[in-house]
Amino acid sequence: MTNAESGVDRRRVLIFDTTLRDGEQSPGATMTEPEKLEMADALVEMGVDIIEAGFPAASPGDFEAVRLISERVKGSVVAGLARATRGDIERAAQAVRAAENPRIHTFLASSDIHLEHKLKMSREQMLAKVVDAVTFAKSFTSDVEFSGEDSTRSDWDFLVQVYNAAIKAGATTINIPDTVGYTTPGEYADLITYLKERVEGIDDTIISVHCHNDLGMATANTLAAIAAGARQAEVTVNGIGERAGNTALEEVVMALATRGGKFGDVYTNIRTERIVPTSRLLTGVTGISVQVNKAIVGANAFAHEAGIHQDGMLKNRTTYEIMDPQMVGWEGTKLVAGKHSGRAGFKNALAEAGLKLTDEQIEEAYHR
Ligand code: KIV
Ligand code: ZN
Repeated sequence: MTNAESGVDRRRVLIFDTTLRDGEQSPGATMTEPEKLEMADALVEMGVDIIEAGFPAASPGDFEAVRLISERVKGSVVAGLARATRGDIERAAQAVRAAENPRIHTFLASSDIHLEHKLKMSREQMLAKVVDAVTFAKSFTSDVEFSGEDSTRSDWDFLVQVYNAAIKAGATTINIPDTVGYTTPGEYADLITYLKERVEGIDDTIISVHCHNDLGMATANTLAAIAAGARQAEVTVNGIGERAGNTALEEVVMALATRGGKFGDVYTNIRTERIVPTSRLLTGVTGISVQVNKAIVGANAFAHEAGIHQDGMLKNRTTYEIMDPQMVGWEGTKLVAGKHSGRAGFKNALAEAGLKLTDEQIEEAYHR
């Protein structure tokens, strides 16, 4: 049965949150078990479709966290990451066994750089391992995701063979990671199109994208891939993750909520008003603060200081805001009194402070 026949909504983009796995790989982002459970609850409340809860074979602590999250989470899919080895896959399967909707996410590098220097493996050996890993994972759960690590630096025709093999072995989601943040929006969209046109059975799977932010293009690359047909975005809260981080959940979700028509009239099921509280929770548990000018969740994302902007905002919010701050969980717009503020902003600040001054007094105070 094809996705269309089975009633899968092709306009919906699934949000796969990997804050607890790739995000935790961010230096300094280690979370305790209770902190991970609290984050998992917040992610469920925000409406993420899939929570990648950890990498069970990495350590007993990781295993236990994935197991506890699996027992606790209702509604969302819980995924455990595994290298393409039977040992890792078995560990992941045990960890997600109690989940209402368990997923095993297995991966193996597909680029010649990784095959030659890291894995010391031929392309043929890689293909055989993909088939074995996906087939083995399928013996535990029907929901199996396969990632060709470093896909964006892999040979495109070899990638066709890799994803053909993964789908034939039973993968239901195929992820095309930009592991080192190397691709560009146009190139990534072309790669998705290339695979869509050549990989057998791809229309019956979910195409997933997973980007890193080494060149600051993770969000742009993710959105370009969605416009080309990807229907799962792998993201983290506040964009935390390896090196320069992963694609930020809040940026993709709000780009689709604000400009969805530009990316194929798509939408997500995220409860956007939970974005800022979840961002704050993560900051609290990791101690990793968000830069003030960070899109959506930065302290200045909805703050206006310049006089012309404040005047416009007081006349009509849409003059300088493309999103309603309350829609993402902020209390509201901030009009900050500063060196660049004008009389309109100053009068507004006085009124908000409950100060009643005559026009003359306002003028004098403004100059002072
Ligand atoms: O960046 C990456 O390639 C990954 C994979 C495990 C999906 O995190
Ligand atoms: Zn990654």
